[in-house]
Amino acid sequence: MEKLEELYSGKAKTVFRTDNPEKLVMEFRDSLTAFDGKKKSSAPKKGYYNAQISAKLFRLLEDNGIKTHFDSMLSGNEMVVDTVEIIKIEVIVRNIAAGSLTRKYPFRAGEKLDPPVLLFDYKSDEYGDPMINEDMALALRLATKEELSNIRELALRINSILLDYLDERGLLLPDFKLEFGRHKGRIVLADEISCDTCRFWDKKTGESLDKDVFRFDKGDLVAAYREVAKRIVPEINS
Ligand code: TMP
Ligand code: ASP
Repeated sequence: MEKLEELYSGKAKTVFRTDNPEKLVMEFRDSLTAFDGKKKSSAPKKGYYNAQISAKLFRLLEDNGIKTHFDSMLSGNEMVVDTVEIIKIEVIVRNIAAGSLTRKYPFRAGEKLDPPVLLFDYKSDEYGDPMINEDMALALRLATKEELSNIRELALRINSILLDYLDERGLLLPDFKLEFGRHKGRIVLADEISCDTCRFWDKKTGESLDKDVFRFDKGDLVAAYREVAKRIVPEINS
């Protein structure tokens, strides 16, 4: 398979066409942004750690019967994925109150949410990713009713698989963001599952080991991402 020209570049990943129309290459870059791109930086090996963590978690989910867009790794930070039609909904799963939830609602940071809370955001830089409900998703023609119920069920299954896996590795998963796509008539998990899109807290100390380190200047981002990579992908050379 040959990597061809760039198709588009987001805040942290670049997508390339390949000589196979059914496959794309997703490059995880070292750049990072927060607060709708207002805060910008870059961190060495960040793309590599995120790509490796994502690949491992996609494989774990596939092993547990969840269809994902993951195909293989082309290099340390380049992932070959199926060409899917991305559904413009950011699906947020929350297990512990953190981040915007504690700013917008009367939850105490660190409070357990049981059962987990699932939220939908409209994936749109132009509109600032506003929160939507199912009626809005239908009105905006983002997905069908059947797709939305499928997405909900998949997100909750993914959550319980990840919670067990991460718990064994000394990590709490307060919340994370998923994106789904359409592939050959089915809904598949797409995008990434990484330190940029999840909150990971050390189980013993409660320390943030994710992009909050960058968002809120909590310390050494590369050290935090490396620590998560060590626990989730101990087989890589970190
Ligand atoms: P929030 O508490 O800032 O709303 O974030 C909820 C989760 O979603 C958190 O795990 C980080 C992730 N997230 C993204 O992946 N992309 C984003 O643009 C934002 C704002 C959050
Ligand atoms: N990814 C978003 C941005 O770059 C926000 C965030 O993750 O905090 O602006």
